[in-house]
Amino acid sequence: MNQTGPKETWASRLGVILAVMGSAVGLGNFLRFPGLAAQYDGGAFMIPYFIALLLLGLPIAWVEWAMGRYGGARGYNSSPGIYRAIWKHRAAPYAGVLAMVIPVVIYMYYVYIEAWCLAYACRYLFDAWEKFGNDPAQYREYFRQFAGVYGNGQALSTEGEGLLGSGIFFLIICFVANFVLIYRGLTKGIEWFCKWAMPALIVCALIVLVRVLTLGTPDPAKPDQNVLNGLGYMWNPNTPRIGFWESLSNPQMWLEAAGQIFFSLSVGFGIIITYASYLRRNDDIALSSLTAVSGNEFCEVALGGLIAVPAAFVFLGPEVLQQLNSTFELGFVTLPNVFGQMYGGHLVGFLFFFLLFLAAITSSLSMLQPAIALLEEGLGLGRKASVALLGFITAVGSAFVVYFSENLLALDTLDFWIGTFAIYLLATFQVVLFGWILGIERGMEELRRGAEIRVPSFVKYIIKYVSPLYLLVIFGFWCYREFFDPEKAVRLRQIRENLIVQLSVGLIVIVTILFFLLIAQSVKRWRAAELRQQEKTP
Ligand code: ALA
Repeated sequence: MNQTGPKETWASRLGVILAVMGSAVGLGNFLRFPGLAAQYDGGAFMIPYFIALLLLGLPIAWVEWAMGRYGGARGYNSSPGIYRAIWKHRAAPYAGVLAMVIPVVIYMYYVYIEAWCLAYACRYLFDAWEKFGNDPAQYREYFRQFAGVYGNGQALSTEGEGLLGSGIFFLIICFVANFVLIYRGLTKGIEWFCKWAMPALIVCALIVLVRVLTLGTPDPAKPDQNVLNGLGYMWNPNTPRIGFWESLSNPQMWLEAAGQIFFSLSVGFGIIITYASYLRRNDDIALSSLTAVSGNEFCEVALGGLIAVPAAFVFLGPEVLQQLNSTFELGFVTLPNVFGQMYGGHLVGFLFFFLLFLAAITSSLSMLQPAIALLEEGLGLGRKASVALLGFITAVGSAFVVYFSENLLALDTLDFWIGTFAIYLLATFQVVLFGWILGIERGMEELRRGAEIRVPSFVKYIIKYVSPLYLLVIFGFWCYREFFDPEKAVRLRQIRENLIVQLSVGLIVIVTILFFLLIAQSVKRWRAAELRQQEKTP
């Protein structure tokens, strides 16, 4: 048992559910999901999506909640400590390296996109979008300049726009806001903030949604571009482009659907396990986890899925959607253009980007807590010191992403290796740890203790057999496509040939080594504490 001071716990059950939901609901819900659904013909995408939700997302969320509370009851809040409490093997805490590196590295670029959302929202307050009118090229050009797509270091210049056009200015605001909230602690920072930010973002989303659903047919000269067809474009399984079965037989769609479930639920990030460790021994986890997952799905499918794509369809038509080549383009180029053409678009644009900002900050906050937990309980650092150290590490990483902005390659590389590859690895490790090492019977007992719903028995077979197998198949396919498929495999070649990619991978390696050393130091301290404890007990 790790004993360092009194154990911190959540103040209320609603608080923890909103905090986990806050971590889950993010840019993934309002930008990544609609972008993917549109790309993979909407209705057809929902099939692998829901299968991944039921066979991977929900079961692994339960696994993380149960392991977190199990570790918390033994005095640990950090993943290395929790893994060590579950698996009595010397290697166990070191598996926690992934659970540290994933949230910290994702934070480094995620907070920058969060800053874009805040900057875009503020531009509506200052009427700065007006001058672009209906010209899509201007919106695209603005985004490229703002994000520094044309060259490294370009994001540092504001091209006569002053602070409003400065990504760095908004990045600093977001950085400070995140760290102030983390510094205030679990209940006064994270829980307090999520308790008002989550309802606020849902209210904003509902207002935007009502506006989108009442768009009708804005241009009578184009009667086909109406809301109903926009919804059909997003949701109909059969599209004029491709048949339902043909669409469903695309393995890439299955991979992307599983990746989206992980990213969206913040499962396989090492976050939920830390959040759940602050629960009390007999607090419900089964229903809380289900509620948080359902809340995320509501925001993703019902809100995210009904806003961006139908709105873009109505004003710009299906051709523009078919040509979208990134999530960022949908969010930061297409949508401002759409809001520019919409009656009331000024307010809708502000609300949309403000809700994106709220969704992003409740997620980025959660990415800091796992490392803070390790620094505090493993190294015995105080809150100030741990916040300062993590602030320094993430500031260096974010500065790297901001500077190496050409084609957003650094951001994309970090997102590929950490935001996709590493998440698969950690999710696989965790589900095996729960089903096979802790043991499925003990694991289910943990999940059911204090549960306010009955967890059906078949869940144990899903966790023990189906989820790991499904994950391994998906991961195998994904590795084949990314590393061996002669047509698609570019990532390894990029590492050999491109300096920015090499530097980005270097950054990941450095952060990994750093956390490895911090964990080694923590293990030493834990062992010494255990020895002292043994000596005391006669
Ligand atoms: N789960 C967070 C999101 O969807 C990371 O953006």
